[in-house]
Amino acid sequence: DWTPDAFVETTVAELKEKIGNDKVILGLSGGVDSSVAAMLLHKTIGSHLHCIFVNNGLLRKNEFESVLDQYKHMGLNVKGVDASARFLDALKGESDPEGKRKIIGRVFIEVFDDEAHLVENAKWLAQGTIYPDRIESVSASGGPSAVIKSHHNVGGLPDYMKLKIVEPLQLLFKDEVRRVGRNLGMDPSILGRHPFPGPGLGIRILGDITAEKVSILQDVDAIFIDGLKKWGLYDKVWQAGAMLLPVNSVGVMGDERTYEKCVALRAVESTDGMTADWVNLPYEFLQKTSNDIINKVKGVNRVVYDISSKPPATIEWE
Ligand code: XMP
Repeated sequence: DWTPDAFVETTVAELKEKIGNDKVILGLSGGVDSSVAAMLLHKTIGSHLHCIFVNNGLLRKNEFESVLDQYKHMGLNVKGVDASARFLDALKGESDPEGKRKIIGRVFIEVFDDEAHLVENAKWLAQGTIYPDRIESVSASGGPSAVIKSHHNVGGLPDYMKLKIVEPLQLLFKDEVRRVGRNLGMDPSILGRHPFPGPGLGIRILGDITAEKVSILQDVDAIFIDGLKKWGLYDKVWQAGAMLLPVNSVGVMGDERTYEKCVALRAVESTDGMTADWVNLPYEFLQKTSNDIINKVKGVNRVVYDISSKPPATIEWE
């Protein structure tokens, strides 16, 4: 029978044997998988694990700072790299979904590669790939994401990096990864985090991306996600987020006519992301959230709720 205890024990022993005194590089995404992979390696080789956490400017509001702090508290040897400007600059004027994914993927590799080169004598690249990533990498459509490990580009590492790959979670399913994380004493706020796509808010801003749009969507998303937590709904939902639509619509504020942006909220139930049902969130919650968003976020005058399931709709809108 599989137990997290036994898994941690044998994996640490195997990693010790395999890696010895070598240095390992790992890209943290803020997600469950890369965080658990990092903690396993940290337990095995301590500061010989060099983690890199890149801010692509498309993360959730304040997430870069708060997650970086969390990683440091966990004792990880982690470097935060704020490359927001570089990503936004490269994305300027691009509105095609796959075009945006490609740019984000390319810039990520460039930034990651620059940082990896600063770690002298690194021999290994660790990835938080889990078992379903391997299956989905064959069947899923879409381009490279901002995270080296993603179901869209398993093995998508440039040859010139010449690092050997180590993937300690490659035989695990998500619930097992969470159990391993708990066994390692990790914070439930990390282990229970919803999935978040590598290209981040970049594929939730339909059309071209600007700093202003990112800021609007971060504010909307924060109100929605904080609300889910406050109402005890966060853990009942598999994934949730907001989309900024490339649509202006007419509204009214006092006796002024407005012509402003529309956002769509999406919350789904799923087990693996391959199929998903929209969640029947309480009307009172939707009502409060919609009011909060429209009252607090300048530039948004309309909120809609996505009631499409996958298939035929996908979870993301791009
Ligand atoms: P879709 O939209 O295809 O999403 O129903 C299924 C799951 O995959 C995530 N997703 C991505 N993750 N890079 C990623 O790392 C991507 O380009 C990407 N596109 C979608 C999505 O958030 C959902 O969890």
